[in-house]
Amino acid sequence: MVSKILLLGECSREHAIAEAIARSGHKIRLYALMKHRNPGIERCCKARDGEIIIGDFLDPETVLKVVRDKGIDLVVIGPEEPLFRGVVNAVEDVEGVPCIGPRREAAQVEQSKAFMRRLMWKYNIPGRLRFWTFRDVREALEFIRETGESVAIKPARQFGGKGVKVIADFQAYLRDVRSRVKEAHVTKLFAEVSKYTDIEDKILIEEKVEGIEYTLQCFTDGVNVLPLPLVQDYKHAYEYGIGPETGGMGSIMGPGITLPFITSEEYEKSVQIVKMLVEAIRKELGVEYRGIISGQMMLTPVWGPTVIECYARFGDPEGVNVLSVLETDIVDIFEAILSRSLPKIKLEFKNIAVVVKAAAPLGYPLDRKLAQGHIMEIDEEKIVEKGCKVYYGSVDQREEGLITVGSRAVEIAGFGETIPEAAHKVNEILTSSLIRLRDWKLIYRLDIGSRISIEKMIENAEIIRRAYRARKLERYVIKEWIPGKGLITYMYGE
Ligand code: GLY
Repeated sequence: MVSKILLLGECSREHAIAEAIARSGHKIRLYALMKHRNPGIERCCKARDGEIIIGDFLDPETVLKVVRDKGIDLVVIGPEEPLFRGVVNAVEDVEGVPCIGPRREAAQVEQSKAFMRRLMWKYNIPGRLRFWTFRDVREALEFIRETGESVAIKPARQFGGKGVKVIADFQAYLRDVRSRVKEAHVTKLFAEVSKYTDIEDKILIEEKVEGIEYTLQCFTDGVNVLPLPLVQDYKHAYEYGIGPETGGMGSIMGPGITLPFITSEEYEKSVQIVKMLVEAIRKELGVEYRGIISGQMMLTPVWGPTVIECYARFGDPEGVNVLSVLETDIVDIFEAILSRSLPKIKLEFKNIAVVVKAAAPLGYPLDRKLAQGHIMEIDEEKIVEKGCKVYYGSVDQREEGLITVGSRAVEIAGFGETIPEAAHKVNEILTSSLIRLRDWKLIYRLDIGSRISIEKMIENAEIIRRAYRARKLERYVIKEWIPGKGLITYMYGE
């Protein structure tokens, strides 16, 4: 039986995990290791006779010391970076303490987009996008000059959701211009990602697909997969999906397990894809993936449900949607993951819609310095009275007040019978004086979860659905560029 849990991380997603642990019926002491003092997580730890420790949770030695000092018997990892740095391997191998979070090898499914794509092709997982990887900038540039494809150019490694450029290339008369844009992006990206030496591939160029994105988060014990309700995340900084990409400015969910624009059949297909990925990881690496695996999915005209990326964790804010209404005891789930008995868990959620919206200081995400060091004033009691919840994120509780650290400062969760109703409640909070910065501005998105945006997505999904159902009956020609061989053409069917 688990009795002392250590949670790693300091953002709103970790606050939601801490809150779910604090609700547990088990006799648990909760500790958390973080770089800045998150008052929400601290409150949860205190409620469970524990405390927070300020320190570098990315460093395996620091984590090991806390595990030893506090006699921890389970470590729960919130964000991805400790996974990539081998924190789970260190805690399990050195201290023999189990973790909720995959070992470094298995976390490659998020760390390396190239690993994930290769796995999909090797194990015949539906939704296989054509892709090309490059370790050398000259090869990537040669590829771009040779092909006139519509592509997505991405960093091959997880790069905080940044660096992705999608370039359509349909008009022959614009090919030279587009090629120059692609070349400039590849050159810039190579320079930026070169600082990472933990994976060899630097750039991934992928066939461009368009469609409706959604996230499927799942618990897994390495063999069994327990899917959660779908959530849709909105990445762009500003209203109506414009501006730079962020970690996510808001997310919508429910009521029920799917979203208004995704059918139950598409949900099941998405679950099947994540299950096949977990099985492929086990076969390929010989390690069992324990923790949370999330498919960043897209409903595409080519495949229907398609994995664009994988997270080896809950999304942020997507994790807040599901955890804020999770009724099953999360410690039961953790114990079932450790004993590989997830099928005995019955996942239950409040059957309501949940909308989460982030508020970040102006400057985020492009100029973090502008977004740092502002005093936040927030009346949590009144926000709760109005039926919403506050999840603290990139803030530091100091003597002088709650100080912004530079990213999404808080996330507000609202609940309702429908998504627009829940969104309206959050908007009322964000536009009130209940949350503000003393000397600066907050940015947030009022459009997320609006009735019009949902109706638009239902219409778009129907068009995409007709396309992928028709294509399923066909076999189609594809072209592939092989380094050193040039373009080859062949056919495949699903
Ligand atoms: N919301 C996207 C992410 O967690 O990376």
